[in-house]
Amino acid sequence: MKKRIAVLISGSGSNLQAIIDAINDKSINGEIVVVISNRADAYGLSRAKQANIATKVLQHTDYQNRIDFDQALLKTIDHYQAELVVLAGFMRILSAEFVNHFADKMLNIHPSLLPKYKGLTTHQRAIDAGDKLHGCSVHFVTAQLDDGPIALQTIVAIAADESAASLQKKVHVTEHIAYPKVVAWYCDERLKCIENKLYLDSELLSETGFKLSF
Ligand code: GRF
Repeated sequence: MKKRIAVLISGSGSNLQAIIDAINDKSINGEIVVVISNRADAYGLSRAKQANIATKVLQHTDYQNRIDFDQALLKTIDHYQAELVVLAGFMRILSAEFVNHFADKMLNIHPSLLPKYKGLTTHQRAIDAGDKLHGCSVHFVTAQLDDGPIALQTIVAIAADESAASLQKKVHVTEHIAYPKVVAWYCDERLKCIENKLYLDSELLSETGFKLSF
């Protein structure tokens, strides 16, 4: 059975595109049942339409507070009977109630080697710290921002003359490999999140997940 996936975006949706492509070439045993954006101008909505995927715009500015917005979001996802929620550049902090509703069923991608550099400007912070390595993390979502058990990390080298923009580009390319891979594991029921621990093919993953070096 194909897993029903809801993808939440706010912007370009290049990670969404990578997942659409992986579904089309049958690397992911799932289907995207809806793409939801909190911004009407998100380019990812065009990508979804192009792929004949249902889209919804829920603008957070139309709601009085976070709880009301999250409630509307939750109802929309449940309406589509999604079994997996994929946050792909979704730039809203989600309430604990929302996160708990989708416990062990919601993934996020973050452009740093977590637990380093939660939040924004991750690439600049890695350069400023003099780090030699950087990358992205695909993790299950818990109520704490950019926290939660890590399924996979990609690792890239930071060059001596690296700029935040060049590093972002480098990491972004690896995101498009990492995210479809983890979604595929989940859809094949190879990856399980049990009591905040991750198991891949029934083996406990390390705290920082499976590694892909580039
Ligand atoms: C990515 O860099 C991801 O790590 C972060 O948001 C960005 C989304 O990019 N969470 P895109 O919209 O998928 O191109």
